[in-house]
Amino acid sequence: MGKLNTKFVCQECGYSSVKWFGRCPSCGAWNSMVEEFVSKPIGESPKGLSQLRSINEWEGENLERITTGFVQLDKSLGGGLVKGQVVLLSGEPGIGKSTLLLQISNFFSKRYGKVLYVSGEESGYQIATRGKRIGAGSKDLLILPEVNLGTILDYIKDVKPSLLILDSIQTVFLDTLESSAGSVSQVRECAYKISSICKSLNIPTFIVGQVTKEGSIAGPKVLEHLVDAVVNFEGERFNFYRVIKVVKNRFGSTGEIAVFRMGDGGLEEVPEPSAFFLQERVISPGSVVFPYTEGSKPILVEVQALTVDALYTTPQRRTQGFDINRLALIAAVLEKEAKIFTRDKDIFVNVVGGLSVREPAGDLAVALAMVSSVKNKAIEDTVVFGEIGLSGEVRAVHFADIRLKESLNYGFKRAIVPKNSSVEIEGMEVIGVRHIREAIEEIT
Ligand code: TYD
Ligand code: MG
Repeated sequence: MGKLNTKFVCQECGYSSVKWFGRCPSCGAWNSMVEEFVSKPIGESPKGLSQLRSINEWEGENLERITTGFVQLDKSLGGGLVKGQVVLLSGEPGIGKSTLLLQISNFFSKRYGKVLYVSGEESGYQIATRGKRIGAGSKDLLILPEVNLGTILDYIKDVKPSLLILDSIQTVFLDTLESSAGSVSQVRECAYKISSICKSLNIPTFIVGQVTKEGSIAGPKVLEHLVDAVVNFEGERFNFYRVIKVVKNRFGSTGEIAVFRMGDGGLEEVPEPSAFFLQERVISPGSVVFPYTEGSKPILVEVQALTVDALYTTPQRRTQGFDINRLALIAAVLEKEAKIFTRDKDIFVNVVGGLSVREPAGDLAVALAMVSSVKNKAIEDTVVFGEIGLSGEVRAVHFADIRLKESLNYGFKRAIVPKNSSVEIEGMEVIGVRHIREAIEEIT
């Protein structure tokens, strides 16, 4: 009988099966299937069956925006929070998630009344200590150190806060489930329960999601489906800069970012990130300026490449803020199509400031940074973007005009861009290239 009540659940993607697999048939992860007890099916609707309406009767949904107290963060969320919106904030330990949320909570409680900050990670005393440091002392900022979700739900119903923080989803559990806190079943059910109650009471909510060593949110797919917005908090722990990236948003666009600086009194927004990221740049071989954007706001970042004779027989490839496989591809294309040989060199690529560049538009910047380093020739006054294909072709990318305008604003008068993304900008020489060789000619 006991066996009937368990199933095997992949801790990476949530796939479940009555049988154990060494490798998850859904996402391919190894050793990720864990036996969990089957719970009663979820499904009761918080609003009953009164939800059926014709498509044109749905207009009046209230999307009034509520400010977080951080201008850039509001903008990146599409104008602020929305009542009942559930936002998943994910990031590595120590990056500043709890700090940011405590600051938002303090602001919120002064403006909109009681905020409930539920912490399963830290004691009330620890949070109060952090609160002192960042000047969060509002009397309506209520701290609840608790991990039992049933109890937490009772508090939410009782307090009806203007904002709810759950820090973090991996630490809470429902005692009706037998699996341990942090397992996919627990994470899924808890997130579902929290999101239902917050939607029915119209409470905007931040759920903190811890990130695993591999960089994904523990129980990732299941969580992302359950929330309205997913916001990633990135940066290097020992650097000041922190970047918030909106990767899913039901109430706005994705790809939007906000830049923060971690100081002694918590996080401060950086209103002009381009100026900030470029302030320490020294024009030298291997340094290229890349106008990064995945949304409406571009940021100029410095991409650095260093190529040196390899120390060992297997040359090293190291990157920070850039995909290492993408670097291998670019190095191969440079060899085959442009005779830039790096096979006996160690290559280091670094995106300065802790931002991670995942959009393909960064390819050409990385390629030219490498060429600049190999040829020991600095690239001045020029910004670079474009995707590189396997035959060395330079492919069009999104948002060319806003990237170029931001570059011009910061005094860059020349740009090397894909021919098909080339737009005329007054006061700027925009060079459209079709192939990586043409781009290299422009800098050598
Ligand atoms: P924290 O918010 O606890 O991170 P997370 O919740 O993501 O794990 O931030 C922890 C780090 O931030 C810690 O190393 C100390 C640093 N910090 C500051 O530099 N300044 C501050 O004002 C605060 C509160 C923290
Ligand atoms: Mg924390």
